[in-house]
Amino acid sequence: MSTPESAASEPAEVAAPYGTGAAPARTGGVPATAAKVRTHHLQAAKAAGQKFAMLTAYDQYTAQIFDEAGIEVLLVGDSASNNVLGNETSLPITLDEMIIFSRAVTAGSKRALVVADLPFGSYEQSPAQAIASSVRLMKEGLVHAVKMEGGAYYAPTVRALTQAGIPVMAHIGFTPQSEHMLGGYRVQGRGEMAQAMVDDAVALTEAGAFCVLMEMVPAETAALVDAAISVPTVGIGAGNTTTGQVLVWQDMAGLRTGKMAKFVKQYAQMRTILADAATEFGAEVRSGVFPGPEHTF
Ligand code: KIV
Repeated sequence: MSTPESAASEPAEVAAPYGTGAAPARTGGVPATAAKVRTHHLQAAKAAGQKFAMLTAYDQYTAQIFDEAGIEVLLVGDSASNNVLGNETSLPITLDEMIIFSRAVTAGSKRALVVADLPFGSYEQSPAQAIASSVRLMKEGLVHAVKMEGGAYYAPTVRALTQAGIPVMAHIGFTPQSEHMLGGYRVQGRGEMAQAMVDDAVALTEAGAFCVLMEMVPAETAALVDAAISVPTVGIGAGNTTTGQVLVWQDMAGLRTGKMAKFVKQYAQMRTILADAATEFGAEVRSGVFPGPEHTF
C-alpha cells in the first residue's frame, strides 16, 4: 500500500518496554513495513481511502503463508466448525476448540492482526460471560481481538469488552450463528431493513467496536453503513465499498468443492494440487519407487 503524505508525520510506535516487539513507523493505511498490524492501521486505511485484506486461518502453516503474503488480518473464524471439524454449521464449535485453533494461528503469524470469533454460546448470556470467553481467547489463544456476531442489542457487551481492553470486531448482516433464526443463508439488509443495519453499526461503533464486518449484504446497504461510521468495515458478499474484504481460505484457494457462494472468487485449485500429489505418492509407494535410495538411511 502506498503511504499518503497526510499521515507520514504520525508518531512512530515506541519500542515495547517489556523486552519484545518492534517499533514500526506509523503511516497512513497499513504500511508494508509495519512489523505488526494494529487496529489503528485499519482505522488509518479507512481514513486514507485504502483497503486491507483478511483471510481465515486455522493452523500454523496457513497463518504463516498468509502472514508472509502480507494479509493484514487473520480471522480464526468459527467457520473452523464447518471447514476443519466437518460440522454442518458453525454452531457446534466450542470455546476450547477455538482456543486451540487460535493458538496455532498466533504461533504461525508474526505481522497480521489476529482476530478470533467468540463461538455460539460463549457470550450471549451477559457481558461478564463475553469478557470471560474473550480473556481466554486472548490469554490462551494469544489473539489480538475478538469478533462477535449480533446487532445493537449487543452494544452493552461491546462496551464492556472494550472497557476491559479487548478490541471487538462486530459482525452484522448474515450472522451464521443465527442461521436457524434467520431461516437459512439469506442476504440481509435489503430495502427497508437497510436503515436497521445502519442503526446496528452505529450503536456497535458508539459502544467501541473498532471495525464492523458485514456478511451477505446488498452493496448499497453496505455503502450506507460504511458512510455512517468512522471505523473501518470489512465485507464478505457486501460489495466493494468496504475498507477490507474477507474470504474463507479454503474457498479462496479452491480446497473446498461444491457450489460456491456468489461472493467467492477462487484464486487457486488447491484440491486438485493436493489430490494429484496424493495420487502420485500412492502410486509410487505401490510400485516401490518411493522411498528411493536418496530417502533411505
Ligand atoms: O467464521 C468465519 O469464517 C466468518 C467469516 C465468514 C467472516 O465469520
